[in-house]
Amino acid sequence: MSKIEQTLSIIKPDAVERNLENEIKEIFKQNGFSILKEKKIQIEKSEAEKFYKVHETKPFYSDLCAYLSSGPIVAMVLEKENAVLANRNLMGSTNPKDAEDGSIRKKYGISIDKNSVHGSDSVENAKIEIDFFFKDHL
Ligand code: CMP
Repeated sequence: MSKIEQTLSIIKPDAVERNLENEIKEIFKQNGFSILKEKKIQIEKSEAEKFYKVHETKPFYSDLCAYLSSGPIVAMVLEKENAVLANRNLMGSTNPKDAEDGSIRKKYGISIDKNSVHGSDSVENAKIEIDFFFKDHL
């Protein structure tokens, strides 16, 4: 069953650095997403560690958090029917090398770390991630 959902999207430092912010936002809009909220910020490594806590046991955790906090990012709340899955499909596979034709990571991603965008992986995590960026402290 389809239902209206919200998901958190981040345009990562590699894409902001290459001035791809507007192009990527346009892709979301062309694919039927409404951008309900957005903010451009740079976060501290300690904040990135909180955001990516689910990955804390992974060997790439420290580099991942250093990377997310290395430059400005754009955090957005996206809304459409089945937004979580629709956004994951539009982003493509985590590794740009494996990403599908027409996906954002295929088009813009540089490597598994510099893969240009992040998107929530479930409705439950979307709520947590939206709160993280838009509720209080950031
Ligand atoms: P993202 O969707 O932001 O979620 C976690 C990030 O970890 C992922 O995108 C990748 O950029 C990064 N990452 C780095 N190495 C790996 C790996 N081996 N497997 C999965 N994700 C990785």
